[in-house]
Amino acid sequence: MEVLNYPETTFEKLPVTIFEQAGEGAIRVARDIAELIRHKQHKGKQAVLGLATGSSPIGVYQELVRLHREEGLSFRNVVTFNLDEYYPMQPDELQSYVYFMHEQLFDHVDILPENVHIPDGTLPIEQVKAYCWDYEKQIEASGGLDLQLLGIGRTGHIGFNEPGSSSSSATRLVKLDPLTITDAAKDFIKEEYVPLRALTMGVGTIMKARKIILLAWGEGKAKILKETVEGSISDEIPASFLQQHPQVQVVVDQWAASELTRIKSPWLVGMCAWNDRLIRRAVVWLSLRTKKPILKLTDEDYKDGSLSDLLVEAGNAYTLNLKIFNTIQRTITGWPGGKPNSNDTQRPERAVPALKRSLIFSPHPDDDVISMGGTLLRLVDQGHDVHVAYQTSGNIAVFDDDARRFADFALDFAEKRNLGVGAMRQEHAEVVEFLKRKKLGEEDSPLVQEIKALIRKGEAEAACRFCGVKEANVHFMNLPFYETGQVKKKPLGEADIEETVAILQEIKPQQIFAAGDLRDPHGTHRVCLDAIFAALARLKGQEEWVNDCYLWLYRGAWQEWDVEEIEMAVPISPEELMRKRKAIFKHQSQKDSAVFPGNDKREFWQRSEDRNHATAKLYDQLGLVEYEAIEAFVRWRF
Ligand code: F6R
Repeated sequence: MEVLNYPETTFEKLPVTIFEQAGEGAIRVARDIAELIRHKQHKGKQAVLGLATGSSPIGVYQELVRLHREEGLSFRNVVTFNLDEYYPMQPDELQSYVYFMHEQLFDHVDILPENVHIPDGTLPIEQVKAYCWDYEKQIEASGGLDLQLLGIGRTGHIGFNEPGSSSSSATRLVKLDPLTITDAAKDFIKEEYVPLRALTMGVGTIMKARKIILLAWGEGKAKILKETVEGSISDEIPASFLQQHPQVQVVVDQWAASELTRIKSPWLVGMCAWNDRLIRRAVVWLSLRTKKPILKLTDEDYKDGSLSDLLVEAGNAYTLNLKIFNTIQRTITGWPGGKPNSNDTQRPERAVPALKRSLIFSPHPDDDVISMGGTLLRLVDQGHDVHVAYQTSGNIAVFDDDARRFADFALDFAEKRNLGVGAMRQEHAEVVEFLKRKKLGEEDSPLVQEIKALIRKGEAEAACRFCGVKEANVHFMNLPFYETGQVKKKPLGEADIEETVAILQEIKPQQIFAAGDLRDPHGTHRVCLDAIFAALARLKGQEEWVNDCYLWLYRGAWQEWDVEEIEMAVPISPEELMRKRKAIFKHQSQKDSAVFPGNDKREFWQRSEDRNHATAKLYDQLGLVEYEAIEAFVRWRF
């Protein structure tokens, strides 16, 4: 377990421990909790835990379950109080926190049911106030919370204490912030279905805990974490009240930590161990901060920006500017498959072979065109043998009424053409019946899942046709980890790796493009990427072609690489951008509003264009050539 060991920093007002991987942090926290439970057991006492739900504590609960099963950790002396529950909410609903806690923890350990407390979302409104008062009293009667586990929302909420909550607030009924509702939509399918209110312990209740651990994983938490840890205490960010607690531990992975000053701009904190990437980051930072192109930065600018030590190392601003300018300049290429007959020593891709077998892995059926549609079009236009491998079916992201519409179409067509009508009617009736009685968030029947997968397959085929990818080069992998019918997926398995090995062996690509969402600890993109890493690791010693294969990573629909990381920047002309847009439009089931839009209201094509425009603008601001749009890639050396 590796802990990143950075120097203490004056910017941080809460103690933060950074782990390289979220899983490592979760294990450490679970072991601390286990120690507390055992310590209390020895003393013949109860351990009183305040628990959270959501994605953050899942790894902790998994490790606690493992400790129970494999190392005999008993929960018989454990009393729990959960932070919150939606209101109104029935305990058997898939979205309820009661359901979550049983699924993640309580059903797998020996905790006594009478020791479990979760705010009751079923109460009539007139009983809520008294109930909340009683919840506080029950915590007190149990001796108070020994430890409170927390996640943090993008609004800065802890529990459901949204901005505006007072530091002394107690358990109560609250209104959810619109941003929290947007974030919760992934569990409720649609924003309209998310309850508007919740019962939550107050900030004051949380602050009474003897110890508090706040968890944050992934890049999505980076901004709010910085504000919580480095900002001043304010009810605008309720988590910042934790700065007043004497025993808080903030446990994060390197991506949630990425906005902290000590990581983002460590030269502001102390002396740096300079390496190429950090130097690039510092120069880009200075250029954007001073609003000067790189080549115009002066010694004075470096000194004013706390970068004197970098200047000493580099000699002077002129040499440093030129070096970084040239490095960034060389990332730009209109030849993502390599420029034939050219000197390629300073180019991102090799000139030979002039025509390459390019394999684009796309986690969902539209990530290829959304994230690298312009590059895909260039590769095809420049004559490369472009293959696209769709790693998952993407079936859960299709609306029910679309599935119904396609089922109707199939039946109408069969009836009109008199093709096996009997069987078709039966299947159609099954679909109609299932969709009618389907509960919110319920897993689709296999038949409905199949229809939804076919809808997305047809769209991907249409997009490939539009881009000029040969029909025989379009591959649908349907990796098994994804096929749960639910948002929650299985972990990466042997079958996923084997299937990835098989397609690599079949194509033997000279270059691979893959969605490189390294910063997202969960999620489909990450599992798809891990399947590729595992497959390549297996093939590396065995097959010659692997040694001559470049792996390029593009970012998913949500974010772009930091400019200092980019190793290939493919300019996109205005015409190409329009073609890319049309390719994305072929994914009709994801248009207008997608089932899982994430926390961004824009459509996928808009996000993609905005992102590509922004990269081009950034290059322009740094004093490089001005393009309409740019798609960016990082090379992964395996
Ligand atoms: C959950 C809770 C919330 C979450 C927060 C982060 O019981 O009270 O404060 O901890 O919304 O959610 P995740 O962990 O899903 O990012």
